[in-house]
Amino acid sequence: MILTPTAENIALCASQLRNGELVSFPTETVYGLGTSALDTKAVEKIFTAKGRPSNNPLIVHVSSIDLIESVALIESENLRTSLNRISKLWPGPLTVVLPKKRNVPDIVSASLPTVGVRIPSHPIAKQLLEAAGIPIAGPSANKSNYVSATTALHVHESFPEIPILDGGACSVGIESTILSLIDPETPTLLRYGAISKEKIAEALGVPSDAIQDVPDGPVLAAGMMKKHYAPKTPIKFLSEIDLWELPPMRIGFISFSEHQHLDFDFHAVYTLSANGDLNDIAQRLFAALREQDSLELDLIVVDSCLETGIGKAIMDRLRRAAAKDV
Ligand code: TXA
Ligand code: MG
Repeated sequence: MILTPTAENIALCASQLRNGELVSFPTETVYGLGTSALDTKAVEKIFTAKGRPSNNPLIVHVSSIDLIESVALIESENLRTSLNRISKLWPGPLTVVLPKKRNVPDIVSASLPTVGVRIPSHPIAKQLLEAAGIPIAGPSANKSNYVSATTALHVHESFPEIPILDGGACSVGIESTILSLIDPETPTLLRYGAISKEKIAEALGVPSDAIQDVPDGPVLAAGMMKKHYAPKTPIKFLSEIDLWELPPMRIGFISFSEHQHLDFDFHAVYTLSANGDLNDIAQRLFAALREQDSLELDLIVVDSCLETGIGKAIMDRLRRAAAKDV
């Protein structure tokens, strides 16, 4: 159920959230599927609606920095200093993993002693969080493992019964960067996003190489799973195939710029940016994947970009979308 974000509808959705119901709301990254983070029964509804495995923790959204400590426990001076510094990047597309306070139910954190918190900058998210007055647990508003939703219509396709505040297309288009400060001496990136490693290092006042990269080994975030964000149609990078060697089939192409001239008869072409601008590519990427996935193609071929800034997050999502089932 798509709702215009009037003051009345925002107030209505805020009271739904307080009552432990589900509401979808826009953020600058992707749409979220929210409910009260302090209500176990409510959070169970999210896992059921998404078909999400219970070992995958949820991000908790709050409206301001003063509310971070309503869900996170900041005990050491080191951690407080790092948190103060990183807070400069809020509100925005950043999630920080911190020690969890006991009032946050285990279902939210998948029984981890930690909690991921984020202050979104989208004005509708902000108004909704303020009106609700409680922390809101919210994963991306897509079925588990499918492509995240960046428009209200994407959310409606998966969750027609749930009220969705329509904020138009998300401006960033890719999920938040996740930074763990669990060991404040070793800040660790768990998921790449629009906030680059360099921006994080600058905010923390440390050199870039002091920030650890997404660790190999046990999966700490679902976004770290090899196959994720995946359309049903197989995906290949243009650079790894020879189009002219393929047997006849329906092939779609997601191009990153208009400069990419390919003398090939694609069934459908989706161009993400006129001039290869990385922010445009990120913003429209998930809409392109969803659209091409609806065309009953045999294969989606995707372009590549330089892995600088948000380019790293773009290539990360595409590699996971293209990964074989594991
Ligand atoms: O941009 C975003 O972050 C969006 C918007 C709605 O805020 N949310 C989002 O949520 O992408 P979700 O659930 O699709 O992805 C959250 C990721 C998951 O990969 C999860 O494993 C990780 O955050 N995560 C949450 N809490 C964590 C924790 N305590 N430790 C490690 N990873 C955590
Ligand atoms: Mg997600």
